[in-house]
Amino acid sequence: MPTVISFVSTKGGVGKTTLAANLAGILADYGMRVLAIDADIQPSLSKFYPLLEQASCGLNAVITRGGSVHADSISRTIIDNLDLIYSDAPDGSLQNWLRDREDRLMIMRRAMAAPLIQPYNVVVIDTQGAVGELQKTAAMAADYMISPIKPDTLSAGEFSSGTLGMLDDLNRLADFGEKFRSGDLYALINAQERNNNARVLATVVRQKFAGHRKVRVLDTVVPSAAAYAAAATAQRPVHRYDRRPSFANSAWHVMHQLVWELFPSLKDIYVDDVIADDDPTFAPSAAEEGLA
Ligand SMILES: Nc1ncnc2c1ncn2[C@@H]1O[C@H](COP(=O)(O)OP(=O)(O)OP(=O)(O)O)[C@@H](O)[C@H]1O
Ligand SMILES: [Mg+2]
Repeated sequence: MPTVISFVSTKGGVGKTTLAANLAGILADYGMRVLAIDADIQPSLSKFYPLLEQASCGLNAVITRGGSVHADSISRTIIDNLDLIYSDAPDGSLQNWLRDREDRLMIMRRAMAAPLIQPYNVVVIDTQGAVGELQKTAAMAADYMISPIKPDTLSAGEFSSGTLGMLDDLNRLADFGEKFRSGDLYALINAQERNNNARVLATVVRQKFAGHRKVRVLDTVVPSAAAYAAAATAQRPVHRYDRRPSFANSAWHVMHQLVWELFPSLKDIYVDDVIADDDPTFAPSAAEEGLA
């Protein structure tokens, strides 16, 4: 069965889609088979990478078929090894549909058990920054969740009250048995500015969750950098876009750090060791594009 990673937060704009797309992109470059699922009713992960083959259906079919996954719901992106279930229910109808289903929390988890999903090594699910049934079913399907957090006071507070509240809600359902328990939550400090204030706040976030049973703050810190938005505009994974090997904070290094922390068996292996350097889909470095 694939490892299922859901990006969640009750706050919008913290970097869920950016990090989900880039994690999916770098894992695909490691040669893993990766499926990205856009479970945000406002499709943004769906548009992150160009499609090679667009399926006739997307998330709507997967959910309303009760969590069965057919080939007509899986699109192929231009990135080798990276497939997509796109979001196609922008009007909120899916949230309403789920609300009426008694098995709503289990629908995405059921989808993860579908035969077509089994060949994937990793499934990355992006969700909307709010509380809703779609987010909950995505949370319940996850082996673990990643919740990006921007080190400012507002989102540190929102993180603990909102995201942890959602986690508590889900775990309360554990009364129904172990299978209802949602995965652990990894907080990932994202878009950290290079100033003292941001560093202090990041330390506060770490202290706040030190020793927490269900929450781990990842060691990897994603700095605030123009490359993340620029790579998204270019529809490329950021590790291909900003490949400065001598700069510790380049997206190349940061994304590798993240992978090594999440998948320790890949430690010290770079995608270059797996993919030939002359792969034509590899973008020129940021320096070459004058971005560095
Ligand atoms: N590390 C970063 N450095 C600089 N900009 C970033 C970084 N991460 C994300 N951004 C930018 O922040 C904005 C919000 O990011 P993103 O859309 O990924 O957030 P989100 O959590 O998915 O938002 P929503 O809740 O609306 O879905 C985007 O413009 C993105 O380019
Ligand atoms: Mg998003």
